[in-house]
Amino acid sequence: MTAQTTDINTAAGVLRAGGLVAVPTETVYGLGANVEDAAAVARVFQVKGRPPSHPLIVHIGGAEQLVDWAEDVSEAARLLAEHFWPGPLTLVLRRSRRVPLEVTGGLQTVAVRVPDHPIALALLAGFGGGIAAPSANRFGSVSPTTAHHVRTELGPGVDFVLDGGPCEVGVESTIVDATGEIPTILRPGGVTCEDLEAVLGRPLGVDSTSRVRVPGQHPSHYAPRARVILVEPENVIAEAELALERGHQTGVFLPPSLADVPVKAHAVVTVPSSMAAYARELYGFLRDLDQQGCDLIVASLPPEQGLGLAIANRLRRAAGPRPSH
Ligand code: TXA
Ligand code: MG
Repeated sequence: MTAQTTDINTAAGVLRAGGLVAVPTETVYGLGANVEDAAAVARVFQVKGRPPSHPLIVHIGGAEQLVDWAEDVSEAARLLAEHFWPGPLTLVLRRSRRVPLEVTGGLQTVAVRVPDHPIALALLAGFGGGIAAPSANRFGSVSPTTAHHVRTELGPGVDFVLDGGPCEVGVESTIVDATGEIPTILRPGGVTCEDLEAVLGRPLGVDSTSRVRVPGQHPSHYAPRARVILVEPENVIAEAELALERGHQTGVFLPPSLADVPVKAHAVVTVPSSMAAYARELYGFLRDLDQQGCDLIVASLPPEQGLGLAIANRLRRAAGPRPSH
């Protein structure tokens, strides 16, 4: 049941009154608050269990509003905004004074994006201000791609949930630091490097933390409850059957090249060969395997081009070292 105009009006009222609204975007659902309401922003951190040093993204209704929220916007940043907004691109820029430091985790920069979802855009238009929204999940866990995910994970922590159906893109926005001379990717996401570079007409800078190739170096994030191990595609079945023999409730991400090969496991998902379909399904797959009681998930990385780069980044982070509990 997707949201109607009356729901959007209600949601705008909730934001004005200092409440939290779950907002569908094309990437994942966000947990939204009025950017300029310090108490509401504090509640976002609290409901997510997120450390206050992790800044939030400011969602705005159109590129023309950028002047209200950011300063010293470079030509390159403007070009990217014009080309990719509304869309899954977040630009890190120098913050204007309108952006409270609570939103930026004390930084002098702000992350801004215009989401490409009719309900999010209608809410932004109706509300009029900026909406600070991280993904609507507990800190460190898998981002929600349906309203149901938000409700089950955050429950009464959210005052109002706008249901926009399943998210089209399925992984978060690409974050580009546009404060320096060369725009640099901080997080691969829904807009590909190739597309960004084509528009810029030059290579992007590479951030040392975004493309680290050693899985163990990534602290876990975007992680299901089950432990995730990454192996070469041709070893997925053997590794999964070994884990099953060792008594694990094993879930398998079966690579498309092995789609019809039988595998002994507790639960199996066949990875789509289209990267767009894989990105759309990725978090749902992780949640499903958790739901089915898997304690271990065996997966492999897709080729790291196009959307495959963002998928591989999330899988590496899902497989990263966990805080001990
Ligand atoms: O697709 C998305 O980006 C979704 C939807 C809801 O818009 N949002 C999202 O937000 O993924 P969140 O909070 O889960 O991730 C935002 C990331 C965080 O890793 C944060 O550290 C980074 O953006 N970020 C925010 N402000 C920043 C800044 N000023 N400088 C560098 N990174 C920043
Ligand atoms: Mg998040």
